[in-house]
Amino acid sequence: MNTTELRHLIDRQRPGWSLEQHFYVSPEIYELERRGWLAAQWYVLGHVSEVREPGSFIVRELLGESLLLVRDAAGVLRGFYNVCRHRGSRICEKDGRAGALVCPYHGWSYRLDGSLRSAAAMPAEIDLTQLRLHPVPVREIGGIILGSLTADPAALDEIQQAFEPGLAYLGIPNARIAARRSYPTYANWKLAMENFVECYHCFPCHPEYCSVMGHVDLYARDLPGPAAAWTERETRWFQEEADRDSPIPEQGFLLTRRKFSQGRGPIGAGRKTQSQDGQPVAPFLGKQRRFDGGASGFGVNPFVFLQAMNDHAVLFQFLPRGVEHTDVLISWLVDGSAREAEVDVPRMVWMWDVTTVQDKAIIERNAAGVRSRVYTPGPYSKLESGTAGYIKGYLEELRSMCARAVAA
Ligand code: FES
Ligand code: FE
Repeated sequence: MNTTELRHLIDRQRPGWSLEQHFYVSPEIYELERRGWLAAQWYVLGHVSEVREPGSFIVRELLGESLLLVRDAAGVLRGFYNVCRHRGSRICEKDGRAGALVCPYHGWSYRLDGSLRSAAAMPAEIDLTQLRLHPVPVREIGGIILGSLTADPAALDEIQQAFEPGLAYLGIPNARIAARRSYPTYANWKLAMENFVECYHCFPCHPEYCSVMGHVDLYARDLPGPAAAWTERETRWFQEEADRDSPIPEQGFLLTRRKFSQGRGPIGAGRKTQSQDGQPVAPFLGKQRRFDGGASGFGVNPFVFLQAMNDHAVLFQFLPRGVEHTDVLISWLVDGSAREAEVDVPRMVWMWDVTTVQDKAIIERNAAGVRSRVYTPGPYSKLESGTAGYIKGYLEELRSMCARAVAA
């Protein structure tokens, strides 16, 4: 499939309906996305606690590329392709800490800033200063490590400025990872993300989530009553209970179609945190000193999302791995000073773990049906406006990317 054919396919998609089968199963489309649209997005690659000390490095895969994220001697986080400038070997296989990065093949060694430090027996005419590791865009925002293959880091300046006061208040830069779980989902990344940005499925599929999160009332079968009741409860919470010191805007925390968003809202029903009984699971996170029962959300569309309660935070990673394979990882963060004995990991992970296991199953069932010869696009409900907007934005950006490719 060339870009002209892809453009025809994009143009015949019906607004407000799910996509045609090709978009979910075609290796050719995935390959075009991987090289173009997906490469230009930002992804969560980790948390600062994984690469805090000078000389520490982590090895992460992004869109089929192995990347090295390195804390250099001056404390700057740098990103490189894990590809030796000699004959291309992978340099590091796993996370570690070292004064230099040494390729195991012929022993070329690189400084932590990516420059070549030594290469034995090279002809005098070879300019070794030209053989730096290939850089890749990375950025730390309030303790969250973001990476991309082709995005311009300057585009994150505004987001960094907007997010850092809130993330600092929540202590995310000094937090530690108390648990991490992986949910490999065998479905196209769009099916995974379409599911993540709607809650139409919450009542049929997520009884535990619905038992905790008050905002699901908004999705109560499109009834005006529950939605109005929730808005009223939220307003009262902002006026009477919300932490006045929090710099995070009081505008709810639901994902929107905007490029980035942040906000706070009540979990609901008097819950202090997202545990089954609503009671705390860890000491206060960051500068918070009172259980106001709020949840704060930070999102950069489409792949970056963090949700923080008063005592822990949940960091999501969505990583497309193949046309029908998306890795979903969740890290639960607690305050950096919280001792192990003070954190109840099983109670902390309960809600998102049970919910994400359910999501993996429903997304994979969705993928199985989409592969059928009788599958055709279906209409989104009024409660899937997030998904409809998400797909609309994806098609618009893909269309302009095709236009640029044709013009080039
Ligand atoms: Fe790395 Fe030869 S490929 S030193
Ligand atoms: Fe879900």
